[in-house]
Order: sequence, then C-alpha cells, then structure tokens
Amino acid sequence: MNYRVPRTRKEIFETLIKGLQRLEYRGYDSAGVAIDGNNNEVKERHIQLVKKKGKVKALDEELYKQDSMDLEVEFETHFGIAHTRWATHGVPSAVNSHPQRSDKGNEFVVIHNGIITNYKDLRKFLESKGYEFESETDTETIAKLIKYVFDNREIEDITFSTLVERVIQQLEGAFALVFKSIHYPGEAVATRRGSPLLIGVRSKHKLSTEQIPVLYRTRSIENMKNICNSRVKRLDSSTCLHAVGNKAVEFFFASDASAIIEHTNRVIFLEDDDIAAVADGKLSIHRVKRSASDDPSRAIQTLQMELQQIMKGNFSAFMQKEIFEQPESVFNTMRGRVNFESSTVLLGGLKAHLKEIRRCRRLIVIGCGTSYHAALATRQVLEELTELPVMVELASDFLDRNTPVFRDDVCFFISQSGETADTLLALRYCKDRRALTVGITNTVGSSISRETDCGVHINAGPEIGVASTKAYTSQFISLVMFGLMMSEDRISLQDRRREIIQGLQSLPELIKEVLSLDEKIHDLALELYKQRSLLVMGRGYNYATCLEGALKIKEITYMHSEGILAGELKHGPLALIDKQMPIIMVIMKDPCFAKCQNALQQITARQGRPIILCSRDDTESSKLAYKMIELPRTVDCLQGILSVIPLQLLSFHLAVLRGYDVDFPRNLAKSVTVE
Ligand code: G6P
Repeated sequence: MNYRVPRTRKEIFETLIKGLQRLEYRGYDSAGVAIDGNNNEVKERHIQLVKKKGKVKALDEELYKQDSMDLEVEFETHFGIAHTRWATHGVPSAVNSHPQRSDKGNEFVVIHNGIITNYKDLRKFLESKGYEFESETDTETIAKLIKYVFDNREIEDITFSTLVERVIQQLEGAFALVFKSIHYPGEAVATRRGSPLLIGVRSKHKLSTEQIPVLYRTRSIENMKNICNSRVKRLDSSTCLHAVGNKAVEFFFASDASAIIEHTNRVIFLEDDDIAAVADGKLSIHRVKRSASDDPSRAIQTLQMELQQIMKGNFSAFMQKEIFEQPESVFNTMRGRVNFESSTVLLGGLKAHLKEIRRCRRLIVIGCGTSYHAALATRQVLEELTELPVMVELASDFLDRNTPVFRDDVCFFISQSGETADTLLALRYCKDRRALTVGITNTVGSSISRETDCGVHINAGPEIGVASTKAYTSQFISLVMFGLMMSEDRISLQDRRREIIQGLQSLPELIKEVLSLDEKIHDLALELYKQRSLLVMGRGYNYATCLEGALKIKEITYMHSEGILAGELKHGPLALIDKQMPIIMVIMKDPCFAKCQNALQQITARQGRPIILCSRDDTESSKLAYKMIELPRTVDCLQGILSVIPLQLLSFHLAVLRGYDVDFPRNLAKSVTVE
C-alpha cells in the first residue's frame, strides 16, 4: 500500500503482489487487490477489484490480463489494498476472497485478517435493511456495515476514521482491517483487535516526529472533516506523522513486517482498538478508549531483522513458532463456540445434524498420524459424554479391513490438511455405505471439508512445520467441544460438563505456563540428544500423549522412539529397560495414577532411570524420578493438551541439537495425498 509518491500502476501492482507473496507462508487459498480505476479525477474515482482463487501467482497473472488497466498511468496519490486468504468461513473462491465490498459500485472495500464471531447477527440485521450479500464470508458484513453507517450518517462530512470507529464498536472477534472507499479518495483507515497490524513508513525526508501521540476521540472532534485538521484546537501538526515539507512519504499497512521489509524497516506497531488514518499525506492514530498499556504514543521502531526471521518471528523454525502459538490457537478454536458463562457449546457446522448424531448407533473416528492421535486422546471423554460406543481408526487399516459400516453410524474424519488420501478414501467408503460423515479439518475448502455432510473447522491457523503441533491441540479441543454439545441435555452430566468447560477456559493460561518450561526441556534435550532410542510410556488419558510424543521424536530427530501403553509393560516392553535406555513416563493425577505408580516401581526395580512428566503436586512420583518435569494441573480429560507440549518442545530441541531441518524432515511431507 503506498501513498503520495508518483507511481505507475505497474509499480503499484508489483508492490502489492510482492507483499502478498511474502505473506503466503501464512497460508493461501485465494487472493485479491483493490486499486484505483483508470479515471484519475478525484471526484469520480472508482475502485477496481481483481480477485482470484489459488496462489498469489494466479492473481498476478490475472492483473495483467485486465484490458481496462493502463499499466503506465501515473498516480500522484494512490492507496491500494491486497489480501491473501486462508479461509475460516466460506470455501476458497474468488467471491469469498478479499477485498470484500459494500455493494456492486465498490463504494467501500475492506480486507480482513481474523474472525468476526457475531457476523451472523450482523448479516441478519443488514439483510433486514435490504443489503444483499454475495459471499459466505464473515468479512463481507464489515463492508456492508460501513456502508450502512455511512448511508445513515447524521453528519454530512463525517470522517472515514469515524465511520470505522463506529463499525468496530459493533464487531466481536478478532480482526486487522484496512478500508478503502470511493468517498475518501487516497485515504486509508486501518484498525485491529486481536490480530496483528503494523504500519511501515518510508520517507527520504526528515519526519515530523518519531512518536505519534494517540488521540482520544471526544465529541468536540467527532465531526471534524479531517482528524489532522488544525481547526481543532487540541490537535497541532505534531499529532500527525508526515514528512517535513509534506513530500514523498509512503505508508504500508501489513499483518507482519515480512510484507514490507524490502521497502522500509521503520515501523509502528498498532495496539488493539487503535484506528490509524492516512489523509492528506499524514498519518494519525486515535482510539476511543484508553489502551490497556496506557501508552500515550506509538513509536516508530527500526527493525533489524532478516526476512526469514520476520516470517518466523523470534523463532528458529515454523514448528517452534507453532508450538508457541498454542495459547492463541486453542483460544481461536473455542472462540465464539464455548460460552463460559452459561456452560454451553455451539458448533455451528454440526447444529443441523445434532438430532441425527444423537440417534446414531456408534461413532467412528478416523485419521492418520497426529490426527489419529487426537481421536485416540479424546476417545474416553467422548464415550463418557456421548454415552455411545466410539471406535478410533487409522484410515489405512480401516480400509484394509473392509470394516463394516452402517447407515446409522456417524463417521468423523480428522485431518489438518483435509487432503490426506487414506482419510479421504475412508470418507468415500463410509459415504458409499450411507453413514453420516463429519469433517474436522484446519482447511476450509479442502476435499474432506467439501465431501463430508457437515463439520468443524478447527481454526488453528495455517500450520507449516511438517510435524503437526498446534493442529493436534485444536483437534483435541474440537472433539471435546463436540462431546460437550452432545451432552447438553444430560442432567447427570451437568457437573462434569461444567468442570470441563471451566478447564477449557483456563487452558490458554496453563499452556503459557507449560511453555515457560522451555529452558528446562532444552537442558533435558542436551542430556538426551546423542541417544539412539527414547521410550515414552503412559496410560489412560495420556496413552495418546505418549504415541504423539514418540511420533514427534521419530519424525524430526530420526531417533527410534516408541509410545508404550503402561498396561502392556509386563507383556514385552519391560525387556527393553535397563540403566541405559532413556524412558519418559507421563504420570498424571487421574484415575490411572495408582497403576502408573506400579509401572514406575517396575521400571526402577530394573535400574531404569525414568524422566517423569507429572503434576506439580505429585510428591509420590518424585521419590522415584531420575528427572522430573512438573506441569500445572487441569481436568483429567484435558490434561493431555498440557502434557503433549513438553514432548513437542523436547523433539524440537533434540532435532536442533542433532543438526536436522526441523520443518522439513527427510522423507516426509506435510500433506500425504497418495495412498
Ligand atoms: C502426514 C504429516 C503428519 C500428519 C498426517 C495426517 O503424515 O506429516 O504430521 O499428522 O500426515 O495429516 P492430516 O493433514 O490428515 O492431519
């Protein structure tokens, strides 16, 4: 996005497309741009939208096919917006991609990163006012809402930023938004809540300020034409950022610095509810409420990072970044679905089929790799909450066995990518037998999400590391939420449901506590990284944790690793135990605690040296532990979410110490689309 420098349309395209390509690592399924149309007369400006399904490259090619676009036309002032989408609502398609528009005349267009949780209510309201929607997205409601506010304004010369301020007061959920409008040519307004947004500043000239004071909207300034207008006494020229002499300053709005770093390393990070406006070559920031940090200004910071570093934040690999994203990703999975006050859960995608699911004969949950483990991890709580028999199946084995499936079965397909061939074939197998099919995926528009009768999008955000981490915890939570929704009317289960829902609420904070053990886990990795094998043992709710931990270790460290059911110890694995064999035991304060203590005794009796993952209040295990990693405690059936994280971290550190490429392990692919 650029402003106030003569640029050809071709250069504008290139800036926007390059920026999008830099953001593609966040996931993509479609992309779009909005730029000024050919008519450069300020009063008659129109906005041209170009949108395309697929990679940014497809959009790039499309742009040059547009006959009406003169590539050499120059703009003194231009503000363009562009977006690459990773769907949360609505399949990937040109119409669902961003920018979304207010109407066919493109009066207002908006790009959005995040999720609007109350979009259905807003859409209903706007439809009742005669607005016609063209997409299935939550974002389109924002575009329509700003037009509604504009059409019903009581002040003729209302500012663009005032409109945006009114719009965001109606929004629930997370967003970073950038607006463009034919009514405010050359002006840009951007705002955020929960999703990141920064502004890059490029100028060859000295800037008027290095600190932008935050303005607090009061009635007296509400109807001013331009927030930087010196008519308003409180605001002098230092409240806006511009180049001295008002020349050649460009502003770039982006979700992260990777999109803009080749233009400038001078950036301003916006805070929640900041509204940033560029008008007349000047940038100003205002907000309605004081910020939590109460910082009265936003500084222009100089970034010293390399591009790769920016994409990964402060992390050395995407897998590490994704492990550390889990406080937010699990929150996003629950957002707008779990009502912690009323202890209710609503999964919109399953609502219409709930009656049918409640009547079924059994649940069959099918997946591969980590997704299979998520099913295994939640099997017990699903059996408890649904009071139905639950079969958990590896897709390949399920097919090999020609497993009998009936029309009164409900079959769940768990898949991060939504494209895994075995899972997809199992889905088609179950469809042929007329069972109801439910998809649980992280990819809207994927084959599994399209071919199932209904489903849940786990909303974990794109996962790039081949070894799945945040998708596992979000799949886990999605299945627990399903169990909670199924048991809503069961009087005997109400206390248990409340306990689990409270547990869900505190998960993001507890995950942060677990992540703070990273250094300790790194030290453990230093001790273990030269070993050839690593066993991981547990039972009950944490058997799946052991399988998943062992899978992480073998996937990226190439060490031999096995997840062992403690109940099977005596039937074979005990023969492996001696002083040398490293063994991790997951022992939590749950109904299997006493049995795990037995296993522990048996290990130490054979001179085994167990590294124990246990609860902080566990004084018993500590007596026999060689080493301990103590974890915060949560409800038994959710504990697996906390106990898997140290194993994710351990596998990461082991792989780094052994010198392997964490994100791209040898012989493995993120999405296995062949049988
Ligand atoms: C591959 C990946 C695993 C993943 C599995 C299932 O093997 O390397 O990380 O768990 O596929 O993928 P899905 O996309 O179906 O969850």
